[in-house]
Amino acid sequence: MDMEISIIGHGYVGLVTACVFADFGNKVHVIGRTPEKISRLRSGDPIIYEPGLEEILDRNLKNGNLEFSTTYDSIKNSEIVFIAVGTPSQADGSADLSQVKVVAKEIALALGESFTVVSCKSTVPVGTNRAVEKILTENAPAHAKFAVASCPEFLREGTGVSDTLSPDRVVIGTESKKAADLLLELHKPIGGQRVVCDLSSAEMIKYASNSMLATKISFANLIAEMSEVAGANAPLVLKAVGLDNRVGAKFLDAGIGYGGACFPKDVKALAFIGKDLGVDSSLLDQVEKINHNARERFAERIVKHAKGKVLAIWGLSFKPNTDDIREAPSIEIMKYLLKNGFSLRVYDPQAMGHIRRIFGDQLSYFDNKDDALAGSDNLVVLTEWSEFAAADLEEVKKVLKNPVIFDGRNVFDPEQMGKLGFEYYSVGRKDVK
Ligand code: UGA
Repeated sequence: MDMEISIIGHGYVGLVTACVFADFGNKVHVIGRTPEKISRLRSGDPIIYEPGLEEILDRNLKNGNLEFSTTYDSIKNSEIVFIAVGTPSQADGSADLSQVKVVAKEIALALGESFTVVSCKSTVPVGTNRAVEKILTENAPAHAKFAVASCPEFLREGTGVSDTLSPDRVVIGTESKKAADLLLELHKPIGGQRVVCDLSSAEMIKYASNSMLATKISFANLIAEMSEVAGANAPLVLKAVGLDNRVGAKFLDAGIGYGGACFPKDVKALAFIGKDLGVDSSLLDQVEKINHNARERFAERIVKHAKGKVLAIWGLSFKPNTDDIREAPSIEIMKYLLKNGFSLRVYDPQAMGHIRRIFGDQLSYFDNKDDALAGSDNLVVLTEWSEFAAADLEEVKKVLKNPVIFDGRNVFDPEQMGKLGFEYYSVGRKDVK
């Protein structure tokens, strides 16, 4: 059964969700507050970079399944409304829910006479959906019939479309059987196990999932630091640890730590929730501290071994296949390097525009990795884009004034680097000199 749905927000979560559900034949209205962005979306420009998204957007604009608007007119005919707006960190680490609250009120005022499920996709602390329910109750017209639900999103940037099509699980938190049935119906074409639960559990599942993954990464970075001192090979150690089914192989890559719009914010928010609940959540404080240390240690090694050198920087986005630089390790590391007097010649396949807005003329920008390299003394890899792993290393050696590579993502093989005659520093592995 095709449905009519509205989605507030057109970031990575809102837009990907909208495109995927429209592609299944539903009528999807996307609501945003910035007229300039809405007209770009209407013209087929997704604004964000997400592999495969532009084609789906284009297809569903043409077939009329997808519409963009700055008004809430579509709410009155929508069976399901998703809230997918940002919940950034505040200074104390807690989530800023102001956008969710503003949007909830707008939805309330626009509700029609048919039953509507109002479901949060944004990551929100336990109790937020109850607050949304209160806002709806206080502001909705007397004839409105609605129920709230929490439907957290687990897509990753860079693989957003495929993650949405085949998630490991779909979590639906609601106390309304009718809302659960409608959401189950909407998700019917999508893979993964269903977890239908209460509102609070659904809200907690999202923070617990992201914090668990961040904890795995920080654990890997802790083992990497120990391995560097002990002379062990951290990737090998972690691979062996991950071969135990109870642990699992994924998210154990040591490097320069996690970034992005989710893990840093959600670990801080869950730590804050713990404190608020009177529960000792210092484990999460340590996860964050280790993450910060991973960047700092890497930057300090560059300062120690490459003082005064011109550095080519390959990779700026917080991970490959995205243009997103929010909380990207590259930002903190480059600020540190600039403070220590380095000149930086940077290249990223997607994130150059965003980085230029932060750093302006403090960096030299290049359109490809080879031009960034030419004229540089050493190379620093900060994001593991596949084009870097595929680089012709003999050529790299010829072009660099000094064949020294600092690899923050363990892209290259130390043995091969030794054979090629590089001085090579990576994470959790012996230096090659
Ligand atoms: C993360 C979660 O993986 C998604 O499930 C979730 O839906 C999303 O947050 C969200 O809450 O919206 P995302 O931030 O897009 O997704 O990216 P990830 O692939 O999880 O990577 C996060 C960071 O961890 C990146 O900086 C990456 O480089 C780093 N990472 C990842 C490591 O340092 N080591 C690893 O082994 C894996």
